[in-house]
Amino acid sequence: YFKQIDVLTSVDSTADYMARQWRLSPGVGRVCVAEHQTAGRGRKGRSWISPFAANLYFSIGVELPLGLSALGGLSLAIGLSMVQTINQLAETPVKIKWPNDLLVNHQKVAGILVEANGESHDTSFLNIGVGINWDMQHQQGEPIDQPWANLKPLLVKSVTRNELLAKLLVDLDETLNIYQQQGFEPFSSLWPALSAVYQQPVHIITPQDTYSGTEAGIESNGALRLETPQGIKIFHSGEVSLRKV
Ligand code: BTN
Repeated sequence: YFKQIDVLTSVDSTADYMARQWRLSPGVGRVCVAEHQTAGRGRKGRSWISPFAANLYFSIGVELPLGLSALGGLSLAIGLSMVQTINQLAETPVKIKWPNDLLVNHQKVAGILVEANGESHDTSFLNIGVGINWDMQHQQGEPIDQPWANLKPLLVKSVTRNELLAKLLVDLDETLNIYQQQGFEPFSSLWPALSAVYQQPVHIITPQDTYSGTEAGIESNGALRLETPQGIKIFHSGEVSLRKV
């Protein structure tokens, strides 16, 4: 899928760069990677702290013959694919927290932001943004609002940032192919082994309420199952977040 890779020193956000490139020439699958972002974005309108040359910040722009309803599963498939790639290189296993944070020992090492920049005739343009904490120092000023860790010290020694990016892109290309042909099904069986909190007590926080229960896996469309005393409740991503109890 990735016909072009733009390597940038500094950018506002690789996600915004990708959206602009797409408007200039739609239809070309491409990747951009930056050493620094001045306006990095996280999920739920948060900012993503992006110091120079410490981390990996990249975005993938692709067009897939899927409607927007298929995207919940796709963003989980991307997270699961990244966990598998990283675990081939990691001495400490990485796990996934629904919908798609990558954690090591319950500390966040990477986040994924999947945005759809448009849909026509059941084709979606996807903007997949990935931020990986690689070798970041504790930040002065704006604090990071959750426990986090760097990936570099957890990998086998010889792996460089560029090699990790290359492996992730090769595997994500394959993941997009599989998803396009078979949907989420081939990925769903990976969940129990790779979820950070499978069958553990969690809280699900929505803008209205907090629900407590046990993480009971995911539906075939990527929605989360929470086992509560009142039965199974299903949550779709968006404004929802999951906390370990
Ligand atoms: C999250 O909140 O966990 C998602 C974080 C996604 C950050 C990446 S860094 C590259 C791309 N550009 C952005 O502005 N955000 C994503």
